[in-house]
Amino acid sequence: ADARLVDSFGRVATDLRISLTDRCNLRCHYCMPAEGLDWMPREEQLTDDELLRLVTIAVRDLGVEELRFTGGEPLLRRGLEGLVAASAALQPRPDISLTTNGVGLARRAEALAAAGVNRLNVSLDTLRPDRFASITRRDRFDDVLAGMRAARDAGLSPVKINTVLLRGVNDDEAVDLLRFALDEGFELRFIEQMPLDAQHGWERTEMVTAGEIMAALSEHFTLTPDPAHRGAAPAERWVVDGGPTMVGIIASVTRPFCGACDRTRLTSDGQIRSCLFARTETDLRAMLRGGSTDAEIADTWRDAMWGKLAGHGIDDPGFLQPDRPMSAIGG
Ligand code: GTP
Ligand code: 5AD
Ligand code: SF4
Repeated sequence: ADARLVDSFGRVATDLRISLTDRCNLRCHYCMPAEGLDWMPREEQLTDDELLRLVTIAVRDLGVEELRFTGGEPLLRRGLEGLVAASAALQPRPDISLTTNGVGLARRAEALAAAGVNRLNVSLDTLRPDRFASITRRDRFDDVLAGMRAARDAGLSPVKINTVLLRGVNDDEAVDLLRFALDEGFELRFIEQMPLDAQHGWERTEMVTAGEIMAALSEHFTLTPDPAHRGAAPAERWVVDGGPTMVGIIASVTRPFCGACDRTRLTSDGQIRSCLFARTETDLRAMLRGGSTDAEIADTWRDAMWGKLAGHGIDDPGFLQPDRPMSAIGG
């Protein structure tokens, strides 16, 4: 039998996304309410040792090749650099990346790179400080910008920017954001908003689509499809004005890429999710704390992935949002 994380549709999960905390220091309107959420009690969260045991099983026994640390906000996890360093010491050495909001990144970029982070994605929805403050409810624009530049200068490459365009809020900035990315040497990706917000306020008609974004960019740039094979990447990429910079669009809703999905997810309280939109989770924390062997944990993880659904089902009549919001699953 295949020792890897295979599902019943033949997809193989080689990319493990790990939510290190459900907490965040921003309050983006499209993600969570101003007062925040009911954060997970500390004792429910995996300890560093528990987390590293699962990461070791994933890399050593289950064929996981890439690790991405997410949140909430992963920089809020104490000891992040240590977790990265321990992960980077595994054999075969996994590719290690981070998805962060960039707050406080400026003073940590060097240490993260030294610990073994290979690349990093930063969320940035606007170039206007006043808009940044109103979207995120925190006045941290300069801080985030400094963080992105520090990451780039620390050799984390590429630094990608994740932008969610919101109708009537920042959807007039697509062109400005791409010009900025070209000037600064960042790789920009626009993301279609998905129904994963804590408030359950997502509406399809409010979502800015890939088609709209392409139309807006095409008025000012020549975009040609990236000739490289896309693989399991969520972003469709285009070469901008002859290159070398690319722009990406993550069209999860209008052009789902679930058929090529290579992800498995671990929440900060030790639950495996086979999909962002999975309706069920598999509890590895109970196994860790109950004395299970590595082999038993690996088997349970394989079983969890076998049941992965074909796709997110956002367009299905009976679609239900997952109980956990994006901030507690990890993007
Ligand atoms: P790269 O390997 O750098 O391309 O990473 P990524 O794009 O997978 O990672 P990132 O954490 O930056 O995610 C960017 C966005 O992609 C997220 O905000 C989600 O909107 C979307 N995304 C990430 N993973 C998934 C997934 O498994 N399914 C879907 N539908 N969307 C995803
Ligand atoms: N749909 C799509 N992307 C989202 N993000 C947060 N909420 C959503 C959503 N509902 C993005 C953030 C960040 C990444 C981790 O996920 O902007 O870039
Ligand atoms: Fe994979 Fe689920 Fe995301 Fe589709 S929605 S790409 S199946 S994790």
